[in-house]
Amino acid sequence: MTAAGNSSVATAWWIPAALFCVLATGCARQSIHANSAKQTSNADDQAALIHQGKLIFDETPKYASQYVGSSLACTDCHIASGTAAYAAPMIDMAGLFPMFNKRAGHTISLQNRIQECFSRSEAGSPPPSDSPQMKSLVAYIDYLSKDQVRGQPYPGRGFVKLPPLTGDPVHGKAVYTTQCAQCHAVDGAGVLPMFPALWGPKSFNDGASMDDPRTMAAFIVHNMPQNHPGTLEPQDAYDVSEYIDTRPRPKFNEVYKDY
Ligand code: HEC
Ligand code: HEC
Repeated sequence: MTAAGNSSVATAWWIPAALFCVLATGCARQSIHANSAKQTSNADDQAALIHQGKLIFDETPKYASQYVGSSLACTDCHIASGTAAYAAPMIDMAGLFPMFNKRAGHTISLQNRIQECFSRSEAGSPPPSDSPQMKSLVAYIDYLSKDQVRGQPYPGRGFVKLPPLTGDPVHGKAVYTTQCAQCHAVDGAGVLPMFPALWGPKSFNDGASMDDPRTMAAFIVHNMPQNHPGTLEPQDAYDVSEYIDTRPRPKFNEVYKDY
């Protein structure tokens, strides 16, 4: 059970309990009031944390600036604030952790997985587990997982599956020019804050999952071009991802290689 789930259960519980006490004789009304106020303020605190987590998710460079090196927000890849299927959604994520992580070679927590995206996808540094930014992001992801049957992944988790193909960066450049450059710009820098950077100093680093053309192809074949998603052939998706992979980007800082 997630923290967010707990507090809503608690909130639902005290309303009938308080009512019963008011109707019954001999109830200490004052203690009912104190108890309800405490429950309400816990629920309020949790709601504020969830709200802050969504702000950080949607505008990461602004609300978690000390941990971000790129211009990317979580929602630039985890589309629609982490709710879009096959854009690596955060729905039903919390109950999948702890989980074995191939790259790290050991079992990781949800906090560790978020740290991984900070040091790689955000080209920054990992926020400590007890930092306000981490607590808020976890509260938000817990909230998106509140209906989860523990251990059961969301059906739209991750990306669509593509057959393994070999990308041609020369044809990929042509795809980029005709179908991507109008938003992400010819130099890949995007148009901030609307269109995120695909390469260059303000994009994800070379340790990020998205830096693998197979991963990017699976992301874009379903989600891009943003104005006509689902129109790219798998081969075109591989070609354009291969082209983007030839472009320069920040180096992953090996200090953070645990995640
Ligand atoms: C440049 C794109 C990008 C950005 C920005 C990004 N991520 Fe990710 N994230 C990924 C990719 C790619 C994966 C791997 C998904 C897969 O392979 O199924 C991933 C995976 C994850 C996972 C595990 C998902 C799963 O299904 O196991 C979590 C949790 C996560 N990211 C959180 C975040 C948070 C929080 C932020 C912002 C601080 C963030 N990410 C920013 C690309 C990104
Ligand atoms: C109409 C504008 C538009 C077009 C055209 C477009 N994108 Fe995007 N792209 C976006 C937006 C906006 C996002 C942020 C996610 C979202 O809100 O959908 C994004 C996100 C991305 C991301 C993840 C974030 C990042 O910066 O790495 C990648 C990769 C990407 N696009 C690749 C492409 C490729 C490749 C094409 C061409 C096949 C393309 N896009 C065409 C608007 C566009």
